[in-house]
Amino acid sequence: METLMNAISIERANNSKIGEVDFDNLSFGSVYSDHMLVCDYADGQWGLPKIVPYQSLTLDPSAKIFHYGQSIFEGMKAYKDTGGKVWLFRPLENFKRLNRSAKRLAIPELPEAHFMEGLQALIRLEADWVPQKEGSSLYIRPFIFATGIGFHASPADRYRFIIACAPSGSYFGGKVRVLIEETYSRAANGGVGFAKAGGNYAGQFYPTQLAVDKGYQQVIWTDDNTHEFIEEAGAMNVFVRIGDTLITAPTNDRILDGITRKSILDIAKEDGIATEVRKISVHELVDAAKNGSLKEMFGAGTAAVVSPISAFGYKGVDYDLPDLTDSVAARMKKRITDIQCNRSDDKFGWRHEVIL
Ligand SMILES: Cc1ncc(COP(=O)(O)O)c(C=O)c1O
Repeated sequence: METLMNAISIERANNSKIGEVDFDNLSFGSVYSDHMLVCDYADGQWGLPKIVPYQSLTLDPSAKIFHYGQSIFEGMKAYKDTGGKVWLFRPLENFKRLNRSAKRLAIPELPEAHFMEGLQALIRLEADWVPQKEGSSLYIRPFIFATGIGFHASPADRYRFIIACAPSGSYFGGKVRVLIEETYSRAANGGVGFAKAGGNYAGQFYPTQLAVDKGYQQVIWTDDNTHEFIEEAGAMNVFVRIGDTLITAPTNDRILDGITRKSILDIAKEDGIATEVRKISVHELVDAAKNGSLKEMFGAGTAAVVSPISAFGYKGVDYDLPDLTDSVAARMKKRITDIQCNRSDDKFGWRHEVIL
């Protein structure tokens, strides 16, 4: 580990762009920090990572990323506490998931040190880019894609791993209206739904656009076989509270195993909130909405943190959720962001300090 860290070369940007950024009014993921980490795979192995100024890439038109979509990514955040220390949240989980995605897409798995040491080196260099304002953070995007060339439909022999960063504010403006999907599917049994593969998101854009045109912000995906059970939303896992029980769907090969989701389950259990991990049918949801036992729905994910859902649409009918002052969503958001931003103790050992 130590050796790799020392071997990461750093080419510094001549001029920092940081003065051009309005840190009080950050949108999500649209301005990028000065540097990025780059690491290439060739001749059967991953080379040494290097840090270079954030810049455009040059790729051969026959690079397999363009034709066969061998592309995977992760999403994580760095948080700055009031004392100026910088923290990551469960970064090893992102590393493990990146490699689960890599394996499924026939991309060579990345050594742990390349990810963890590379991340440490990059975030230390970009520490000034980590916002301190409540609700803002440095969004971190590790990704791997096929640079190897050829029109033959087979895995590439060259890949690139990059980590880029974007100081970011909140993902959604306010509460979210969702449409329960009855026609399209995000993922299929035996497919790549559990992986963070770029194509999973491309496939969501058209149905999501149709939902947006109807006045919703997101689609809630249902199982591809029957469309009877809710699975997850665009970039979030979904929780529902019926009565006093917090319920979320079990992960499977169609659903992304969200780090926020499993953290919330652990926090809720610790706080004495009843939790159930089980299938939730749309009929159960509609019945609970009608009889008043459906108290809350919220999405959970790194980008969106905990995003309350204000209403869901199904078969042309909108079901409004109550506007609660003391919601489990708000409690979970506070609990998790307090851990992430070093405002509370960290019983689970999830916080990871970036050594500056
Ligand atoms: C499809 C999908 N589901 C769920 C999540 C939430 O996962 P996490 O909490 O690890 O960010 C994400 C975001 O990464 C996602 O893209």
